[in-house]
Amino acid sequence: MPTAPGPSAPQLARLLTGWRGEGTSARALAERIGVLLEDGRLAAGRRLPAERVLAAELGVSRTTVTAAYGLLRERGRLVSVQGSGSALALPDAPRGSSGSAPAVADLSNAIPPAWPALPGYVAAAAARLPEVLDAARLDYQGLLELREGLAARYTDRGLPTGPDRILVTSGAQHGIGLVLHALLRRADRLVVDVPSYPHALDACRAAGARIVPLAMPDARPDVDEWERVLARTRPEFAYLMPDFHNPTGSTLDEEERRRILRAAAAAGTVLIVDETTAELAIDPGEPHPPFAALAVGTGAHVVTVGSVGKTVWHGLRIGWIRADPRTVAAIAAARPARDLGTPVLDQLVVAALLPDVRRVLADRAVQLRATRAAVLERLGVDLPDWRAPVPAGGLSIWAGLPEPRSSLLVPAAAAVGVRIVAGPRFGVDGAFERNLRIPIGGAPGPTAAAVGLLAEAWRGMGAHHPVQEAFAPVL
Ligand SMILES: Cc1ncc(COP(=O)(O)O)c(C=O)c1O
Repeated sequence: MPTAPGPSAPQLARLLTGWRGEGTSARALAERIGVLLEDGRLAAGRRLPAERVLAAELGVSRTTVTAAYGLLRERGRLVSVQGSGSALALPDAPRGSSGSAPAVADLSNAIPPAWPALPGYVAAAAARLPEVLDAARLDYQGLLELREGLAARYTDRGLPTGPDRILVTSGAQHGIGLVLHALLRRADRLVVDVPSYPHALDACRAAGARIVPLAMPDARPDVDEWERVLARTRPEFAYLMPDFHNPTGSTLDEEERRRILRAAAAAGTVLIVDETTAELAIDPGEPHPPFAALAVGTGAHVVTVGSVGKTVWHGLRIGWIRADPRTVAAIAAARPARDLGTPVLDQLVVAALLPDVRRVLADRAVQLRATRAAVLERLGVDLPDWRAPVPAGGLSIWAGLPEPRSSLLVPAAAAVGVRIVAGPRFGVDGAFERNLRIPIGGAPGPTAAAVGLLAEAWRGMGAHHPVQEAFAPVL
C-alpha cells in the first residue's frame, strides 16, 4: 500500500480533542482514530505519528498509545509499513459497513429519496435515445437541449441566462472539482464559512487551496468578517452557500449578498457559489433570485454550481456550472484531463423534467416539512437539553449539544445501529464537537425513530469527562 506523511502529533492532537471517553484510555484513543478515519478527517495511507511523540503530545503514557495502535492493528485499521512506521488503512468492505452492529438507520447523508414521478420521465427519455445515438463527437459542455432548459430556469428565477453560460456536469461535486481544476492554482487562498459541506472542503484541499476558514457566529455567515478578510488577504477564491447552507440551513439576506459581492469585486476574489440546496425552501415565502443576479454590473466574478441531486434524485448525477461564456469555455477546455462528458441518457431525463421542476420542489417542501417536524418533536422529547434551530429550508438541522462529545457519540450510535457523522467533519481542525448534523431528507417516521436511538446512545454514554475544546463552540 502506498503511504504518505500524515498529520503531525499536534495536528492529530487537535483532531482528537475530547477523545477520552468511557473505558480504557487506549480503547478510547483507538475508537476516536477509527472515527476520524471512517468520516474522512484522516485518510487511509497516511502515516500516524510515532508512539512516543504522540504520547508526549497527548500527555499520556507511551503504553497507552502503543496499546491503541495495537487495537487499531487488530481491527485492520493500521498496518506496519517497513521503514516508515504505521499507516492507516480502511477495511476491504466499503466505509461504514464494518462496526459493532449492522446499521438500522443511516443519518450520515442528507440525501432525499428519488422524486416518485421520476420513472415516467426516464421512460420518456429512453424513448428519445435514438435521436442522439448518431452523435459522433465528445461533448464537454452538455446537450444543448438541457443547457437551454437550465438557462430558461435561471431566466425564470430572475437571472437572464443563455445556454452558452451553462456547462453540464456529473453532479455538483463534480462541478466544484471542475471549477477548481480549471481555475485554481496550488496554494491559492480560498475563503469558506465553517461549518461547511465537507466534500467541498475535501475538493478544495485536494486542489491545493489554502483554506481560510471564517467562523459563523450563531450559525450565520459573519459578513463583517467576510469584508475584513477579503480586503486584507485578497484571496483568489471563496466558496459559499447563500441559500439553505449545508449544514446550518442559514440564508443570506439581500444586503449581505450585496456586501459580499462588493468585497469580492474589490479584492478580485472569484466567488464559487454552491446553489445545490438553494431551491429547497420548506417554509412559504418569496425565494431569493440566484445569487449571481445581484452580481450583474458589480464587477464581481461569480461561478455558480447547481444540481438536481437534492431535488429530483442523487442517482441521476446531473449538475451544472453557470458562469460567463469565457469561463465556461476555459472549464470545458480543461475538462478532458478529468473526464470526457456527462452521460447523455441522464441529461435527456433532466431535460424532460425541467418544465415540471416546480412540482418537484413543492413535493420536496411537503416532505421536508413533515420530517423537520417529526425530528424536532423527537428531539424536544428525548433530548430537551440539545439546541435545535429550525431551518427554513435545506436538508438538515444543525443541532447544538450540551457537551462537546459529538465524535464520542458516533461509535455509541453505531453500537445501536445508527450511522451519523460527527460535527467536526464539517469544519477544519477539530472544531464543532458541540454540534451534530441531523438530516431531514428521509421519511418522517424512520428518521424520528433513528433520532430516538441516537438519544438512547447519548444517554448511555455515561459520566461527562470534561475536555478542552480546540475552538469556541458555534451553536
Ligand atoms: C451543498 C452541496 N453541494 C454539493 C453537493 C453534491 O451534490 P451532487 O450530488 O450533485 O454531486 C451536495 C450534496 O449533498 C451539497 O449538499
